[in-house]
Amino acid sequence: MYKTKRKIKKVPIIVAILIIVVGVGGYFAYKEISYRMSDTYKLLEIGYNESETNTLLESYPQEKLDELIKNKTLEPNIPKLLKQKYYLEKNLDRYLAYLKENPEVAMDDVVALVNVNRDRDFYEDMEETDTSKGDLMLVNKYYKLTKDYQPEEIVPISLQFSYEGNEISKHVYERFRSMWNVANEEGLTLIVNSSYRDYETQDAVWKDYAQAQGEEWADNKAARAGSSEHETGLALDIVTDDVIMNEFEETEEFKWLQDNAYKYGFILRYPKGKEDITGYEYESWHYRYVGEDVAKEIHDLDITFDEYYAYYLDK
Ligand code: DAL
Ligand code: ZN
Repeated sequence: MYKTKRKIKKVPIIVAILIIVVGVGGYFAYKEISYRMSDTYKLLEIGYNESETNTLLESYPQEKLDELIKNKTLEPNIPKLLKQKYYLEKNLDRYLAYLKENPEVAMDDVVALVNVNRDRDFYEDMEETDTSKGDLMLVNKYYKLTKDYQPEEIVPISLQFSYEGNEISKHVYERFRSMWNVANEEGLTLIVNSSYRDYETQDAVWKDYAQAQGEEWADNKAARAGSSEHETGLALDIVTDDVIMNEFEETEEFKWLQDNAYKYGFILRYPKGKEDITGYEYESWHYRYVGEDVAKEIHDLDITFDEYYAYYLDK
């Protein structure tokens, strides 16, 4: 009697223990299997470190991640690129190719250069400028205007503000005059030296340069016909009394423009230190109208219009 009692008590305890053991074991086995099936585990297995893995999981599209895992691709430049402020998904393969060719170039420069197409040759396979973007159209060594492009409402610039023979888009003229008046009240003299040029005029400018010092030299200083902002009616070369182009950056007028031009919608288009991006030598005199909002953004971000266009406008 006594023995039977003890046996009856033991069975449920053993069963309970078995259930717990199997349950807990199963739970941990399930957790382990799930972990081993996770993207995190697979990325770590491929060789990405924890921080790279997190970046990939957070910022890389799932479809691309699946492919990378399937092919066991170890490319630490991908998470590095994903962290760049101006990273564009569509350019990833081009960033990687550029890095392979130019391993010494800093990651943010690679992104900036590829975004503005500098991994491609100037004037090769050019695209037509999207003129529907109006004041924000991009004209450079990759985007060109058609030969017959004619901006709307080109008006003459008064000799009060300009050397002879200058013309510009009417709305740009209005903003320039507002800017001129404020600068003038501060005792400064802004003078338009060059402005709207049609295709033929631009062609003549470039050919004069090329004839004088060769094509390479000309390309660093002037646009080939179809590729100049002067053909848009949105660009002004601004100087001051008795100052030729290269000396303009030493003047009070230049300093004033640096601090104020954006308030009237103008940006310095070919800044110092950005020659690799713009494809032109520094021009302290060339101002491009983009409207006040975008001019302020470009001023605050301290980037070129080419970079701004690629990241914010070409989507
Ligand atoms: N000098 C500028 C780049 C032009 O020719 O448009
Ligand atoms: Zn110019």
